[in-house]
Amino acid sequence: MNFRYDFTVKDVQDAYDGAVGILWEVLMGEHIHIGGEKETQRLAEKLGVRDTYILDICSALGGPSRYLAKTFNATVLGVDITKTMLDKATARTLKEGLQNKVEFRRGNALDLPVSSNSMDIVWGQDAWCYVTDKARLIQEAVRVCKPGGKIGFTDWILGSTPLSQEEADFLYEFMIFPNLETLDGYKLLLEDNKCQILEIENLQEDFATHMKYYYDKIQEMRDSIIQEFGSDLYQIAEAGVKAWKAASEQGKVTRGLWIAEKI
Ligand SMILES: C[S@@+](CC[C@H](N)C(=O)[O-])C[C@H]1O[C@@H](n2cnc3c(N)ncnc32)[C@H](O)[C@@H]1O
Repeated sequence: MNFRYDFTVKDVQDAYDGAVGILWEVLMGEHIHIGGEKETQRLAEKLGVRDTYILDICSALGGPSRYLAKTFNATVLGVDITKTMLDKATARTLKEGLQNKVEFRRGNALDLPVSSNSMDIVWGQDAWCYVTDKARLIQEAVRVCKPGGKIGFTDWILGSTPLSQEEADFLYEFMIFPNLETLDGYKLLLEDNKCQILEIENLQEDFATHMKYYYDKIQEMRDSIIQEFGSDLYQIAEAGVKAWKAASEQGKVTRGLWIAEKI
């Protein structure tokens, strides 16, 4: 069952403009995705990043964009909808002296402010779950990719064990996800857009391990989180991460990786 909620891009923006964006950085670091820098390195190796022009869709604080520039000499354009994230990403990039290699642009993943057929690699990490229309998102990702270029991303998705309506309400609402794809759902969308699938991974075990890690960390950081964000936000975050941990252990939610080539 594919659950649908009416969270809008404005809801996501409001959250990332405020405490949620800061809290995720406290828990995950400036690579706001499961596994941090190690996962950025892994995806880059799979995609053969080197001196390439990369579009990072939903670039947030730009941690991965800067890492790709520093480690692989890539040139990176990050697109994100949230002003606070873009401002921080731009300031950190200037501070690191990477402004000639990394640029950020405000825009919606559903209507990318990027020319067609312009990117060697289209990249995304654990963020496309926020985007309301996955079919349109993949269409846009493929549009801006050069023929022969690659689209590589990871994302939070539904697992093989069904969620109840009640579980879905809690999990989606906590994360402000309007809907979630499946491993096969993204595969079909890529194929529908004339991409050849090169690799697909279900990262179930790793996802559950990391959810446990974030749950333990949030508890260890209880006092400092309450001091910075207040006890209401702490309680919401603790209950939310606990529910995601349980659902990931039961195979109800997972994380996937897709690598495809635009034919
Ligand atoms: C989890 S963070 C992304 C993390 C980032 N990919 C990384 O690995 O560091 C989610 C980001 O997606 C952005 N976002 C959500 N919906 C979007 C949309 N429709 N268009 C552009 N950005 C969007 C949010 O503003 C937020 O910065």
